[in-house]
Amino acid sequence: MIDGRKVLFSGMQSTGNLTLGNYLGALKNWLTLADEYECYYSVVDMHSITIRQDPAELRKRARNLLTLYIAAGLDPEKTCIYYQSHCSAHAELAWILNCFTYMGELNRMTQFKDKSAKHADNINAGLFTYPVLMAADILLYQADVVPVGADQMQHLELTRDIAERFNNLYGDVFTIPEPYVGKVGAKIMSLQDPEKKMSKSDENPNGSIYLMDDADTIIRKCKRAVTDSVGEIAYRDEQPGVKNLINIYSACTGKTPEETVEEFAGKGYGDFKAAVGESVISILRPLQEEYGRLSKDKAYIDQVIRQNAERARHTSYRTLRKVQRKVGFPDRLS
Ligand code: TRP
Repeated sequence: MIDGRKVLFSGMQSTGNLTLGNYLGALKNWLTLADEYECYYSVVDMHSITIRQDPAELRKRARNLLTLYIAAGLDPEKTCIYYQSHCSAHAELAWILNCFTYMGELNRMTQFKDKSAKHADNINAGLFTYPVLMAADILLYQADVVPVGADQMQHLELTRDIAERFNNLYGDVFTIPEPYVGKVGAKIMSLQDPEKKMSKSDENPNGSIYLMDDADTIIRKCKRAVTDSVGEIAYRDEQPGVKNLINIYSACTGKTPEETVEEFAGKGYGDFKAAVGESVISILRPLQEEYGRLSKDKAYIDQVIRQNAERARHTSYRTLRKVQRKVGFPDRLS
């Protein structure tokens, strides 16, 4: 804890193009949280190679994601925005924590089961121990809170178990992280299948609005969004497609779903979809402009990368050294 603020850690993978769902559901909230917490937002490139990646593509996407964090409004002077791979403490602590994590625990992870079914030709050990690296990420910074979606909750619970196990053996080394339970971002569903979360790995590109989509594409995707034959703009589970569009419009305009329903009372789906598209454009356009500007400013981004990696190392090595001492590694004599 620095200057009385609690510590928050979160990370995103740079695989795939970020969607409106990632922005409204996570990134946009990160901004609000950055005022309240001492935040570490990592581009978790080490996690990405658990699935085979094209090297040049991974490098490019990692930089794009880091740039996007800043374009979205995170201030890299206040918030530590960095590449996980630039701070070797993550790998070092992950190794140690591997020795405090049971096979049985990792076997229970549903994401491992899902991912190994999806990538049956490459079920590598890294995919299996992925949650341990995630635990290392969080514990290195003594994070008090971690904003995670439902799909990562099991990993966070494992992190807590590992930390408690370690603390029981060696004394209070790690802060036990809590899931962030404040206002969470809107959960945005696929435009083509509103029962499914909008995802950057969706095979159907019409299901997702990507943050870099141009205005025409956004309008087209909104117009094609799957709705229903009820014909009424109402906020209810029986109309998941319409409900999702209401959520998108509300998140983009800052209105409540009720206000949105009122605004479009008596209107047809066509008009509503067009308005949803415009609302999305109104928030993505400034983001895209800022992103374009920052991408050209190589010197600035390089400096952010350098400075923040330094900060991340400074904080995390304090924890790592303590852990190394506790487990019995010899002191460094320099
Ligand atoms: N596993 C997370 C995801 O895929 C990303 C992640 C890695 C993360 N390390 C983290 C999230 C630490 C929160 C805290 O979404």
